[in-house]
Amino acid sequence: MSSKRIGILTSGGDCPGLNAVIRGVVKASSQLGYDCVGFLKGYEGLYDPVRYITLTHKNTSGILNQGGTILGSTNKGRFAATVGVADRVEIDPELLAGVKHTIDQLNIAGLVCIGGDGSLAVAQQFHEYGIPVVGVPKTIDNDLSATAFTFGFDSAVECATNALDRLHTTAASHERIMVIELMGRHAGWIALHAGIAGGGDVILLPEIGWTYENVCHKILDRESHGKRFSLVVVAEGAELPEGGLVGEEKSGAQAKLGGIGQIVATEIERRLHREVRVSVLGHLQRGGAPTTFDRVLATQYGAHAVRLIVQGRLGEMVCYHPPEIESVPIIQAVNKLRTVEHDGSAVQAARALGISFGDCPADESPFAWSEDFDVEVATSDDVEFDAEFTLDIAEAATEEALAEL
Ligand code: F6P
Repeated sequence: MSSKRIGILTSGGDCPGLNAVIRGVVKASSQLGYDCVGFLKGYEGLYDPVRYITLTHKNTSGILNQGGTILGSTNKGRFAATVGVADRVEIDPELLAGVKHTIDQLNIAGLVCIGGDGSLAVAQQFHEYGIPVVGVPKTIDNDLSATAFTFGFDSAVECATNALDRLHTTAASHERIMVIELMGRHAGWIALHAGIAGGGDVILLPEIGWTYENVCHKILDRESHGKRFSLVVVAEGAELPEGGLVGEEKSGAQAKLGGIGQIVATEIERRLHREVRVSVLGHLQRGGAPTTFDRVLATQYGAHAVRLIVQGRLGEMVCYHPPEIESVPIIQAVNKLRTVEHDGSAVQAARALGISFGDCPADESPFAWSEDFDVEVATSDDVEFDAEFTLDIAEAATEEALAEL
């Protein structure tokens, strides 16, 4: 056995793409002459009892497109470095000493910790203690600072979008209002992206305050245009208009969110006397095969994590700053959630399409083309481009579309 080793573990809630990272780490490590060991059940496998398997080409072959994690995972357990969203708690020094001993005994040059905010906070404390770690950002919520995308997010959005496509057809057939509740904790990324991709009419996010009046106004506005069905996308972490999140409080841990979809559905039904149905997509968003995007991102993250270890850049986390895979100190990625910006381009595009965020009546959307909106028409020397003619066509098309509503 080679004397040089790289360790890997998967921690926290699972998501599609974990196995793709593991495979990426194993393949890249072996090219550089390192053996790999995978610790079982997240950080738990590092100490008392130490539990790991040797990872080889053979036992990581064919896992690229498999959901879940072949190493298993633990949410919190003995190695909690945060309480609630971000308050730091110190890991028991005895555990840290035990982990250091394991890493030294197994001659591990670097431990790849694949996890979300809480798990990377543990990695940061390991780093401060002198345990050689690098981080890989994982979560369907896409709420980690310092990276444009975590792997798992795209797969979750794909799953939610498929669900919206299905709801769309049945909503239209029965002229119903469909409410769908999506995951994402305190960030609305999944709801925002799936809402746009799946043709949602109302999207309720943790980041944008909303009222039932505005939600109902949008539904009625659609009805006045002949659309007797509507899709309402609700992020599980959206705050109720009267204040408060919906879910179960857990002492010393993050609240388990869920249930807002039913509350919103019941209230719409009460106010509009219309048939409303609710779907909660739940953990379907966390399961199954990763999308192509997530496979590529996870593979790049795995390969880059190995590069960081080989270059001695310990305490760093791989990240995606499109179009490049880069790295930042882990400390920059933890204890601060990346949430949806009110005036971000996706929110603006949604408003431009008439999607309501429930923050104003449908006819008072903050989106409006300014009078002196500067239209630049690109022309080429070869093609004569009749801008006026094109605008005439656009206007005629708009009139036709309006007449159809
Ligand atoms: O953080 C990922 C996530 O799936 C959240 O979107 C969701 O609120 C939470 O985990 C669910 O956690 P659990 O699997 O413990 O129910």
